[in-house]
Amino acid sequence: MCEDNKNIGLPVVTLKDINLSYESEKGTVTALENIDLNISKGEFICVLGPSGCGKSTLLKIIAGFLKPTSGVAKMDDAIIEGADWHRGVVFQAPTLYPWLNIRDNVSFGLKMRKLPKDEIKKLTDKYLEEVGLTEFHKHKPYELSGGMKQRASLARVLVNNPKMILMDEPFGALDALTRQNMQALVRTLWWKTKNTIFLITHDVDEALALGTRIIVMSSRPGKIVKEFNTEFTYRMSAENSDNTRYTSEYMKIREEILDLINHQPYIFKI
Ligand SMILES: Nc1ncnc2c1ncn2[C@@H]1O[C@H](COP(=O)(O)OP(=O)(O)O)[C@@H](O)[C@H]1O
Ligand SMILES: [Mg+2]
Repeated sequence: MCEDNKNIGLPVVTLKDINLSYESEKGTVTALENIDLNISKGEFICVLGPSGCGKSTLLKIIAGFLKPTSGVAKMDDAIIEGADWHRGVVFQAPTLYPWLNIRDNVSFGLKMRKLPKDEIKKLTDKYLEEVGLTEFHKHKPYELSGGMKQRASLARVLVNNPKMILMDEPFGALDALTRQNMQALVRTLWWKTKNTIFLITHDVDEALALGTRIIVMSSRPGKIVKEFNTEFTYRMSAENSDNTRYTSEYMKIREEILDLINHQPYIFKI
């Protein structure tokens, strides 16, 4: 992860009046409308919203996988033109090459970037250790559990020291206990390094546990309906306690978010 904490608070990504429409056989689908969002260095943004509201579309625009139909998406003042390793992406399904062992999966991006061999080894060892997979470095992905595969996917992104990490429901397919462990791991890594994270989830408690800011989106066409500053949950990490979860501040925000999400018209996905 990014070890440089000097620029905390400076803008990393700016989205200005973003609109995105998909053209499909069934016609035009407006997925995002008038999205304005500034993401600063060190923020942990969590995105919540009803299914089909455009969360993944928004992530893909920031990642550079999709170009907005109109509006401007920038990172560090340069227009985002395509995917690159400055923005590492973790999806719900682990994205590992099945024919490579875990070490080679983690070091893949560094090899592509032609870093010196000893540097590749040093970084790969470091991040295998960070995610607790040192012992399993010679295993193939099929030999690992879902949670371990997801940790390998995370290491694969972290090893590149990206400016930002984007995660699309990364723990959605994991069992409750593994999910909690993964949340703790991501929180610790973020806490240690203050990287910038953008994480989509459908779990309001996950968003409250991890995020410094929560963005709630409306059903399609996706707009940002409300933002919540949830930095108070820092205490959860700092004190390593779950008490924040039972404070009135937490309960109040939780209820308001659930209300916002549940009182939106249900949209069938096409
Ligand atoms: N490639 C595509 N072509 C047409 N419609 C799409 C495409 N991808 C997504 N959509 C539609 O755009 C809307 C937003 O999708 P998505 O961003 O995946 O939502 P979310 O991640 O919030 O569930 C949905 O209605 C979805 O069906
Ligand atoms: Mg999605």
